[in-house]
Amino acid sequence: MDENGSRLKTRRQAIGPEQPQLFSPDLKAVKLLIATTNRGKLGEIFPLLAGLRLEIQTLADYPDVPVPDETGLTFAENARQKAVYYARHAGVVTVAEDSGLEIDALDGAPGVYSARYGGETTYPQKFALIEQQLRLIPDADRTARFVCAVAVAVGDDIAFETRGTVEGLITDEPRGTGGFGYDPIFYYPPFGCTLAEAGDRKSLVSHRGKAFRRLREWLAQQNSER
Ligand code: IMP
Repeated sequence: MDENGSRLKTRRQAIGPEQPQLFSPDLKAVKLLIATTNRGKLGEIFPLLAGLRLEIQTLADYPDVPVPDETGLTFAENARQKAVYYARHAGVVTVAEDSGLEIDALDGAPGVYSARYGGETTYPQKFALIEQQLRLIPDADRTARFVCAVAVAVGDDIAFETRGTVEGLITDEPRGTGGFGYDPIFYYPPFGCTLAEAGDRKSLVSHRGKAFRRLREWLAQQNSER
């Protein structure tokens, strides 16, 4: 791992003789599968990868591949598992991300269970559950962060991984209509608003913005090494 939390392999290490190539030698656009169906995530990821000479695909291009169980105990483990699973099934270089909200006063919950915290409930119900759990916690101690782990699989190998975080505070009630998931209860002090009120500024500071900008640098570097 380097100081950015990234693990790099050279193209030679990452790609064995039987593996799909990360970049084609004849300079044609190569397929890169972004292994998520989450519209909120895709809406943020597409602009962050725009302009690269890659044919970006999503899981909508592979409707017959079954969704795997997420069994990892960390964001990084889940990202690696998803990347290798979809790279194997789709046969193309695959980027997977796993992300979520860690609340310090709840010992890091909801964490890797963010999407299903409190069961199959709506986000307003999840916000109410969290508020109930934090009701005795003073404002200053409602510290939390979003985490985004990203992994790139080339065949069975993880060719690159990185992570991004953003620190904030949990509000006592939701504010704003932008973003997705827990954005309405995530107050970002430097902006003086929640991430659901931050509009396009969210990606400038977010966990996903940070992780995918590092991924973008790595992809561009692979391109220039050809
Ligand atoms: P995953 O699909 O297993 O990675 O679940 C990620 C879940 O974490 C999402 O469904 C949201 O509940 C939450 N999450 C991740 N990133 C964000 C974000 O940027 N804003 C709000 N919620 C997020």
